[in-house]
Amino acid sequence: MLDHGAAPPAADSQPRSPRPSAAGLGARLMRRKPVERLVAEGGQGEGGTLRRSLGVWQLTMISIGATLGTGIFVVLGEAVPVAGPAVAVSFVIAGLAALFSALSYAELAGTIPVSGSSYSYSYATMGEIVAWICGWCLILEYGVSVAAVAVGWGEYLNELLGGTLGITIPDALTAGPGEGGIVNLPALAVVLLAMVFLLGGARESARVNTIMVVVKVATLLLFCVVGFLGIKAGNYAPLAPLGITGISAAAATLFFSYIGFDAASTAGEEAKNPQRDLPRAIMLSLLIVTVLYCLVALVAVGAMPWQDFDGTEAALAQIMKDVTGQPFWGVVLSVGAVVAIASVVFAVLYGQTRILFAMSRDGLVPKVFAKVNARTGTPRANTVIVSLFCGVLAAAIPLGELANATSIGTLFAFALVNVAVVILRYTRPDMPRTFRVALFPGTPIVGFLLCGYLMLELPGITWAVFGGWMLAGIVLYFGYGIRRSRLASVEK
Ligand code: ALA
Repeated sequence: MLDHGAAPPAADSQPRSPRPSAAGLGARLMRRKPVERLVAEGGQGEGGTLRRSLGVWQLTMISIGATLGTGIFVVLGEAVPVAGPAVAVSFVIAGLAALFSALSYAELAGTIPVSGSSYSYSYATMGEIVAWICGWCLILEYGVSVAAVAVGWGEYLNELLGGTLGITIPDALTAGPGEGGIVNLPALAVVLLAMVFLLGGARESARVNTIMVVVKVATLLLFCVVGFLGIKAGNYAPLAPLGITGISAAAATLFFSYIGFDAASTAGEEAKNPQRDLPRAIMLSLLIVTVLYCLVALVAVGAMPWQDFDGTEAALAQIMKDVTGQPFWGVVLSVGAVVAIASVVFAVLYGQTRILFAMSRDGLVPKVFAKVNARTGTPRANTVIVSLFCGVLAAAIPLGELANATSIGTLFAFALVNVAVVILRYTRPDMPRTFRVALFPGTPIVGFLLCGYLMLELPGITWAVFGGWMLAGIVLYFGYGIRRSRLASVEK
């Protein structure tokens, strides 16, 4: 048997293992990293350790920070024409799909409290190749979505500047070369700004994140109060003019607005009491955003006839303006939206750096991603590389279908987490669990099926992009990770 529990070799001597023989290939692809080793390595990086400074409040804020943004401020306006006033039901359905997976995340985050999120859970339960594929999907969920969200942020900022100061950033500076411009400067700027804050350290980052989360939650609550005054009962009838089909299609679109609740699980190695606090933070953040989404959706369609939502990005600002009769309140809402979307960029960028940190420690990506700065206790080089990568992506490339692929990649990772929770219950029933999924194994099975169902709702072109992405990931794994894996060196 392989001694996977043995201490890892020193990073600098991390060898390449020889090309695998055909007979050994299966075993290598399926090699698993024992939970104990995952946990024992927690916080350990190249040349230092991550600093544990986050409590349940900050962890909850990280998850809300990564979740609440484009979905409610922008995508809601696109979903109402699809679902009609019943859009709140679509939010509930999408939230339920998220809930089943969130329960599985909570159990695993409490059992394996490391920074790699579903990548690490897969490594412990399904083996290296599945873990790699999961990590590769997480780059879609985190890295690519940072770029996509940053592009959306730039558009919102431009609208805000145009509406308030009459300033419009020239087209050449708001779109990359692929879309007739030179560079998308606002998108690049928000990523670089997030990088600067992240370089400050985990505690400082958490503080910045918390401020932004408070601003965006306050903005949405303000919207609810003001919008409530404009509600007309007649706007709710008929409730579902486009039937179940519309509600269901809108739910698939709105699933995007729940992506990010898992972000706390990327902070396991910076949490003060991860076993206790990670499950709490994941469940609490999901509860808070679900309640907020449903309230905002109910108020929005009550205050403005659903037919007037013509896919406009700034529907909530429009409602504020109409109800009060004062453009000022529309501006307040837009400022809140700009902060909200920036905070998603920030929290998701944080998550991406920590996932790569875990993958790097395992040898599957270059070790520079696991270098920890002694002064700040954070992976600074990693943060700079990831930020520059996401910044360039946002500044230069029309993300198009790649951005849509964010949802499919996320759903795939969520599906794996549901499988992982079942496997770990059977293979390691003895492990202490601070949170246990109720009605096991029914709950994770339903979670898995819901993820599969929502994946199937996505269009063919998204599947094609996803297929290409997976192929690229598999080529990379066979070209690099399979031989550089720390587990490979333990096998020798
Ligand atoms: N859930 C995140 C958002 O809505 C991705 O912006």
